[in-house]
Parts: sequence; C-alpha cells; structure tokens
Amino acid sequence: MRIKPESGECKYSRREFLHHSGLVLAVAALASNFVFPKESRAGGVNMEKSSKKIRMGIVGGGFGAAFHWHLDPNCIVEAVSDLNEDRRKHLMNVYKCNKSYNSLEELIKDKDVDAVAVFTGAPDHVKHAVACMNAGKHVISAVPACISIEQAEQLLAAQKKTGLTYMMAETSYYHPVTISARKFFKEGKFGDIYYTEAEYHHAGMEYVLWKDENGNHTWRWGLPPMLYPTHTTAFLVGVTGERLTEVTCMGWGDGDPIMDGNLYKNPFWNETAMFKTDKGHPFRVSINWRGAFGGCERGQWYGSKMSLFEPSANGTPAVIRHAGHKMGQDSAGFAREESEFEEYKVPNWAEMELPEPMHMGGGHEGAEPFLTHEFIEALINNRKPTVDIHEALAYTVPGIIAHQSSLKGGVMLKVPSFDK
Ligand SMILES: NC(=O)c1ccc[n+]([C@@H]2O[C@H](COP(=O)([O-])OP(=O)(O)OC[C@H]3O[C@@H](n4cnc5c(N)ncnc54)[C@H](O)[C@@H]3O)[C@@H](O)[C@H]2O)c1
Repeated sequence: MRIKPESGECKYSRREFLHHSGLVLAVAALASNFVFPKESRAGGVNMEKSSKKIRMGIVGGGFGAAFHWHLDPNCIVEAVSDLNEDRRKHLMNVYKCNKSYNSLEELIKDKDVDAVAVFTGAPDHVKHAVACMNAGKHVISAVPACISIEQAEQLLAAQKKTGLTYMMAETSYYHPVTISARKFFKEGKFGDIYYTEAEYHHAGMEYVLWKDENGNHTWRWGLPPMLYPTHTTAFLVGVTGERLTEVTCMGWGDGDPIMDGNLYKNPFWNETAMFKTDKGHPFRVSINWRGAFGGCERGQWYGSKMSLFEPSANGTPAVIRHAGHKMGQDSAGFAREESEFEEYKVPNWAEMELPEPMHMGGGHEGAEPFLTHEFIEALINNRKPTVDIHEALAYTVPGIIAHQSSLKGGVMLKVPSFDK
C-alpha cells in the first residue's frame, strides 16, 4: 500500500515499515504555546487582541514571495521591491500591496516601513541587511546570514550598533519534526543527544538555477555546498543550542568544465563535514549538489534514551527508537540486541500554534508561516526572535570554516564564535 506521510515528500509501504515495529505512536496530548511561548513575551502581549501592526517591506520576488506577511493579523505589507519588473508585480499580487520600489535602496528610504524581509541573493545578504539596519529598519534575512568571516563581522557590528532586530529565516528550524525535537529535548526525552546527523541534498541546480532568463550566471553558479550550511546545522544548533567548535570536511568534484571560472573558485559539488560541538559531541553534515539521491533537508538525533529520525527520501516516515535491552536473533541465528521503533505521527503544529488565517501550510515542511509569525511576534513583544543574530551566525559560520577545511584536504580547523 502506498501512503502519503504527513510530513516530507517520501512515500513508503506501511506494511513493510510496520513489519519490524508493530507499533504506531499515538499522538501525545501536546501542550500548546510551545512554539511561540507566552512566557517568553516581554510585555506578555496577547497577539489575538493586539492592534499593533508591523509594516513590512518585502525585497526579492523569488523565494521572497513564498511567505505569509499579508495573512498575519499583526502585519501590513507596506511596500515591495525587486530589480526585475515581473517579480515586483508578482510580489504586489501575492501580498496584495500597491506600493513598489525599483530597488531595496529606494525602499529603505520609506519612513512607513518598520522592517524589511531581505530575500536577495546570498552574496548580497550582508550588504542589504546592513543597509536596512543603518536606515533604521528591523531585518529578516534569507539564509545564509553571510558567506565569509568578514561579512559575519560586518553583520554583527551593524546589529550591535543599531540594536535593531535581526532574524534569519531558517526553514529547517520550523520543520514539524524539528519543533518536536526541541520539545523532546527540553523534556529530557532523548537522554544525552550524543550524535546528530543532518543532510541537505539538492541535485540539478545547474540546469534550472545557475543561469537567469537571459543566460547569465546567477549567484548560485558553483556555490560551495558548505557556504549554504544552515538547512543542516539548524538541526543541532537549533535544537540543543550547542555550538560547533571544530570541523574537518572533505569535498568531492568531478572536474566538470561547467564549474570552470565560478566566482567562488569552488571545485566541489558535494561536501561532508564532521563537526565537534562545545559539549564534545560529533555532528555529521553532508550537503550534496550532484549524485544519486533523493532531495532532502533532514536531521536525525541519536540519544542515550531515545532517537528521532526525520522522514527519509528512501521511504521511511518519521521514526522514534527507544534504547532497550530486548535480545533477538539475526537471520543467521546470532543473538542481537534490539531497540523498539515506532512511527512518529508528526503533530500538526501549525494548527495548534499559528493564527487561524495562517494554517495554509507551505514549502519546506510548512516552515514559512512559522517564520513569518515568529518575526512579527518577536517585534510586537519586543523580544529576541528564535533565530537571532547570534543563532544565525552559529548556524552559518561553521560552514564557511568547513569549506576552508575541504580546500585544505580535510584539515581540522577551529570555528570562531560570534556569541556575546
Ligand atoms: N529554504 C530556504 O530557506 C530557501 C529556499 C530558497 C531560497 N532561499 C534563499 O532566499 C533568497 C532568495 O532566493 P531566490 O531563489 O529567490 O533567489 P533569486 O536570485 O532568484 O532572487 C533574488 C531576487 O532579489 C532581487 N534583488 C537583488 N538585489 C536587489 C536589490 N538591490 N533591490 C531589489 N531587489 C533585488 C533580484 O532581482 C532577484 O529577483 C536566497 O538568498 C536564497 O538563499 C532560501
């Protein structure tokens, strides 16, 4: 029987899957107010009753059009911008907004704009986020926060100088299973998470995203995988709060001439890193642009008491395993310790936590409405957003160092800290 899991793209046979498990975890009675905790609200603002509105400017009509600003009860889309006219029109249409500017640089002069969503190309994020903050605007930026250590320093300095809110829109942070992982971690269900794995696999970009409609190379041409690390690092840093302190990384390339001359001087399609955390834990991250795999952004957390696995592109749904001491036999008759595993029925966090008009789901496992609402809620309540400047740099900078390691044949390198 082919069934569609609640989360993820993969399909699997329930009968095959349940062959070993025999168990399906019932959805636990889950407390609400976990994702947007009331106790974290400085002013304790009741969002349902607050009439305060954040006036957003949205820049970048590609992925920047995939959010839900117009549906958040406490947000007004004041203006939009893209260099490209068609994309400007697209943004105006999606967000039902009749004010547009030809560039971010013009939009940030608008005194009615409180905050800007920066969804331009990755190499420009710091230039654009810094310009917004210098113009007095709060910022939510697309990932990655930056692509060099110098940019990380500039971004942190601008945020510190202005004191404005900066958030990075990391979609993996709001995968439903990642939300559950944070909850299980806070409740101590994992025991010690002694090892984590994360992968971001995205093949075929060279065919659709490396050139624009005029045939010119885009910023994605030859982008080193580890300069786009946040869809993986978020699975550990965004769950346990650990910091990645050291890294060894190896890259793979095939010498394809279509990489020749790329701006990053990058020879690698794929990179795999082993990080060490500030708790001494290993964390394996693999980011692949070319090869035989199913596209995915997923994490798996190994704990001393319990482990959790996001759905895999190879057909398994979300799974929980419990450490156990049940002895079984393998096919050759040898004794083998077995741990029980269960399908994890992923809760519908969106219905439990988001304002009713934002229950529409979205790409990236439905992460966009959460990112939208978190930024607005943080501003209304004058609190830090979940993925603030320090978190954003803790997700992004380790990848920059990992890429340096891969260019040096896998030498172990220290990751600088951008915490306070
Ligand atoms: N899962 C995720 O979190 C996810 C998914 C897709 C893309 N992204 C990120 O979102 C960002 C946008 O992605 P995309 O695929 O739409 O990229 P893109 O290159 O297609 O679009 C960027 C847009 O920004 C516009 N732009 C650039 N400079 C501008 C300026 N000064 N003023 C106004 N507009 C300007 C460009 O005209 C372009 O339309 C990227 O940084 C990417 O890394 C994140």
